[in-house]
Amino acid sequence: MTKKIAVLAGDGIGPEIVAEAVKILERLKQDGLKIELEYGLIGGAAYDETGTPLPEETLRISRQADGILLGAVGGYKWESLDISVRPEKGLLGIRSALNLFANLRPAILYPQLADASTLKKEVVAGLDLMIVRELTGGIYFGQPRGVRTLENGEKEGFNTLVYRESEVNRIGKVAFDIAQKRQGRLCSVDKANVLECTELWRETMTSLSNDYSDVELSHMYVDNAAMQLVRAPKQFDVMVTTNMFGDILSDCASMLTGSIGMLPSASLDENGKGMYEPIHGSAPDIAGQNIANPLATILSVAMMLRYTLDQAEMADRIEKAVSTVLDQNFRTADIYSEGMTKIGTAEMGDAVVAAL
Ligand code: IPM
Ligand code: MG
Repeated sequence: MTKKIAVLAGDGIGPEIVAEAVKILERLKQDGLKIELEYGLIGGAAYDETGTPLPEETLRISRQADGILLGAVGGYKWESLDISVRPEKGLLGIRSALNLFANLRPAILYPQLADASTLKKEVVAGLDLMIVRELTGGIYFGQPRGVRTLENGEKEGFNTLVYRESEVNRIGKVAFDIAQKRQGRLCSVDKANVLECTELWRETMTSLSNDYSDVELSHMYVDNAAMQLVRAPKQFDVMVTTNMFGDILSDCASMLTGSIGMLPSASLDENGKGMYEPIHGSAPDIAGQNIANPLATILSVAMMLRYTLDQAEMADRIEKAVSTVLDQNFRTADIYSEGMTKIGTAEMGDAVVAAL
């Protein structure tokens, strides 16, 4: 059966990197992948055209699709807009509307890039870490929120960190299941020494661990986790954490792999439907210059094949092709080091297609 893929390129480098990922999909179609692409607007591009960063039409296409491929949203141009219509709202809106609560962010170091990391080779060599980030709750979505004016005329900004037991349980289950299939070690990251909400998070994870005798659960405060990620990242197998802590820690983890331009992600709902996107942003400073690294988006396609399209073999092929291209010493600017061949966004996409 033909599967439907919604393609939402978004802003900044989004259209460039998504174009390269689409090249991969088109190539796999020749090998029998049965998919149909439908394009939609999101973010600033959608705001400019329709007045909202998440048009109804985009939601409709995305709801009907089996999987969604997303580029990135945001840019200087829209920074002064009211927060309710900023590009980022489009991304948060679609995550929430489609209930994509489980965000998987693998950080894997390709051995060829050990020199591209700012950390010492021996610290990062062999790194294979999975961050499971809760994506539709926590302080990103908690009510009340806003900016109010106090009696003395001073302004006060406020947001709410809130998690229900059921929300912690469902993201916990995803993380435990993943840990079961890996090395069986799960580290839950919280700030239980200060925040009641994450004290409940910790208790809930601990209760859940009774159902997973084959997984070793540990807990870590987020400040320590940030430190441990750069001190000794290989101690981790799977990490599970809240929306905001996961946002921060996954950026940190990305640098262990050499560049934020290398990290893909999958955001899944309860039925395995997913949205796939690089973890990096829209990088408006380098947009339109053909220098962005498309590999995170291309690797997101591999995740889509694995988690939504049931094509593990094709996913493996993409990952191997990326490895081949790195063996051929092709590098975009962000992962370039001396002696390598520097190439652009489109050339990198072509090189991966050739390696496929
Ligand atoms: C990410 C991004 C988003 C987030 C932004 C663009 C809203 O940083 O996917 O990590 O904070 O979730
Ligand atoms: Mg982020």
